[in-house]
Amino acid sequence: MRRKLAAGNWKMNGLAADLDQIDALEAAHSAVDIDILICPPAPLLERMAARASKIAVGGQDCHASVSGAHTGDTAAAMLVDAGASHVILGHSERRTDHKETNDDVRAKARAAFDAGLIAIICVGETLAEREAANTLDIISGQLAGSIPDAANGTNLVVAYEPVWAIGTGLVPSTDQIGEVHDYIRAKLEARFGEGVGRSVRLLYGGSVKGSNAADIFAVSNVDGALVGGASLTTDAFSPIITALAAS
Ligand code: PGA
Repeated sequence: MRRKLAAGNWKMNGLAADLDQIDALEAAHSAVDIDILICPPAPLLERMAARASKIAVGGQDCHASVSGAHTGDTAAAMLVDAGASHVILGHSERRTDHKETNDDVRAKARAAFDAGLIAIICVGETLAEREAANTLDIISGQLAGSIPDAANGTNLVVAYEPVWAIGTGLVPSTDQIGEVHDYIRAKLEARFGEGVGRSVRLLYGGSVKGSNAADIFAVSNVDGALVGGASLTTDAFSPIITALAAS
């Protein structure tokens, strides 16, 4: 059975004072039997990890190299050293803002695996790609190009995040989400075999809120969510966690 995962992506938001959210979240969800993860900005990682017990913490990116002359970058082992267990890779904002390619994401994922991190690899189509009926081809290319051969059911999580749904309030229909998640599952089974393919957790991301979470979590092959804006406060994130635990 795949364990459900509620993952928060704080993006470039949060200062030390916001770590109070961790205490409130832990108190509210001490009994739920799902995984909860928050990926804060790198400067908060170590302090968040020190404060959290039930909640896991993760990075939002890592470099493909182990160390070296890469000003401004963070190596996977440094994330682990700071208390991280996960790292988000290939988020569409990284693919756009930093021109990350599938090859870049695959190299970063290899480094993450080598350091012992669970990589949450993001895929998703733009609105133009969806309107041109290219969604599944785009997803196929991103899966093939971004996921290393060393992936398995333990070290890999895939997040389907349609670019047009991120931070926009627009959400695909449950049929559209189900179509892509079933497709990703089939692709993983074909490449890695049924055992591994069936054990990789698939998250949906893009404008998940308390009000739409239960419907999304009822979709086949949705094992949780990657949540941006609504993960920033306990009031907004809590109902999503509750809906996932009840799904
Ligand atoms: P959003 O972001 O929930 O604010 O749409 C999701 C994401 O980018 O992971």
